[in-house]
Amino acid sequence: MELIDRLNKEKRLSSSEWKKLLSSWIEEDRTYAAFIARTVVLQKFGKSIYIRGVIEFSNFCKNDCYYCGIRHSNSKIGRYRLSKEDILNCCQKGHSQGFRTFVLQSGEDPYFTTDKLADIVSEIKNKYPDSAVTLSVGELKPEDYTNLFKAGTDRYLLRHETADEKHYKALHPAKQSWKNRMRCLQDLKDTGYQTGCGFIVGAPYQNIDCMVKDMEFLSNFNPEMIGIGPFIPHKDTPFAAEKTGSLETSLFFLSLCRIMLPDVLLPATTALGTIDPEGREKGILAGANVIMPNLSPSRVRGKYMLYNNKQNSDVETSRCMIDLRKRMSSIGYDIKISRGDYKGRNNS
Ligand code: 5AD
Repeated sequence: MELIDRLNKEKRLSSSEWKKLLSSWIEEDRTYAAFIARTVVLQKFGKSIYIRGVIEFSNFCKNDCYYCGIRHSNSKIGRYRLSKEDILNCCQKGHSQGFRTFVLQSGEDPYFTTDKLADIVSEIKNKYPDSAVTLSVGELKPEDYTNLFKAGTDRYLLRHETADEKHYKALHPAKQSWKNRMRCLQDLKDTGYQTGCGFIVGAPYQNIDCMVKDMEFLSNFNPEMIGIGPFIPHKDTPFAAEKTGSLETSLFFLSLCRIMLPDVLLPATTALGTIDPEGREKGILAGANVIMPNLSPSRVRGKYMLYNNKQNSDVETSRCMIDLRKRMSSIGYDIKISRGDYKGRNNS
């Protein structure tokens, strides 16, 4: 508890303090951290939850991450791409339901060149000038990031996956490099995006030192958004037999992130909602303030399977939005119709 108080007061811990906290915490620390995180988030955001509509527009991927169900080598899944028209229809549906952020997410699919993406982004921004567009399409060249930013993209999500280079190598084939991923994150920030990173809790081979590095990386990088959720195996990947990450550890990390970076936009992720039917609510009560329902057309939704039983927190009909609002109000929170931009330093 002293270390949690110290983190709250100083907004940082030393390596040895992180190591101590992350290797010796007990349930009481977790509930204490959640209590502090809720106080912090209440001061910054009140009882408002931001929503982001996710459009998974292609599950083609040239990468081969050992943990991921849409990896290149998985020949068992049906691949799909949405057309520009499909994507715009998703936005229209989302906008009418109150979404003011659209997250365009895909595997690393070379079919969607920067020009194609820029065209789609600028059309969305033209049609919905009150909305933000977030891209999550992986590692690109600096000039591509620049061009997509110029086309109107507001934010970019690229999880760092792990801040430990050796651990990164254990999760990815040799041609995927940790250094390049880190370079991309820096490029994104330098370009001017609100940038999101994040890691997988309980990924195979993750040890305390990896987690210490993750927290120190987040502290130094100071991202506007953080995506963290438990590892969940996918049956057709090399990690099929590995064990699922823990709900409690994931919640603890959400709380620590909130305490360390009070302004950060922190989703209760789909992975959290997949390992526990109330995962998203629990995430919010641990300090998260964002949820990211799926706006993809129902015919493709089952195909973006990053891990087994990926939950479809979709909003297919307006009934679903009513349900979502009910779920949030059952824990005392309200969905806010807003872009929900970062309001911390340099950006208010
Ligand atoms: N379990 C949990 N998270 C996963 N991701 C991919 N595969 C898995 C899995 N099996 C996460 C990665 C990626 C994001 C889109 O989904 O962190 O960046």
